[in-house]
Amino acid sequence: MIVRLTTRSAAETMAAATAFGRTLKRGDCVALMGTLGAGKTQFVKGVCTSFEVHEPVASPTFVLMNRYSGSDDAGAELLVHHFDLYRVASEEELFDIGMPEFLTAGISLVEWADRFPSLLPARRYDVRMELGEEPQIRRIEIEPVGAVT
Ligand SMILES: Nc1ncnc2c1ncn2[C@@H]1O[C@H](COP(=O)(O)OP(=O)(O)OP(=O)(O)O)[C@@H](O)[C@H]1O
Ligand SMILES: [Mg+2]
Repeated sequence: MIVRLTTRSAAETMAAATAFGRTLKRGDCVALMGTLGAGKTQFVKGVCTSFEVHEPVASPTFVLMNRYSGSDDAGAELLVHHFDLYRVASEEELFDIGMPEFLTAGISLVEWADRFPSLLPARRYDVRMELGEEPQIRRIEIEPVGAVT
């Protein structure tokens, strides 16, 4: 089932992402797509809140991936891997940092996921974000792909 929502502030996007994050399980991957400023990083922040990540969450700029320490429902440590593929030039760079292995461990959140679609796990959530007709409005679509539950 595709979930479609409209948010009217960054805080609303974060809150929606936190609610969505509570449905994620260890090993899940979220592929974020949408133009510059659409709110992908805000969404990532919201998901991180659901895993009680207390470190600052920001797009990885000079490294391709940030890793945050969070916790699951049972209080066990859960690593959150935050990728941003915007500046990545080749798939090879992603293999070099071990992206495929990270994608199956903990939770993975991938901004600009559509830049390297072949690296995405078959089971994942696609999150598409678009700018709305007014500056604060965003349209968000969340689609489970490959029978992720
Ligand atoms: N409804 C909204 N949801 C999310 N962000 C919003 C909303 N309204 C305004 N904003 C603002 O839009 C900006 C979104 O920035 P953000 O870094 O999350 O985008 P991004 O998609 O990650 O961009 P980039 O492609 O550069 O990584 C923030 O400055 C945020 O405050
Ligand atoms: Mg971003």
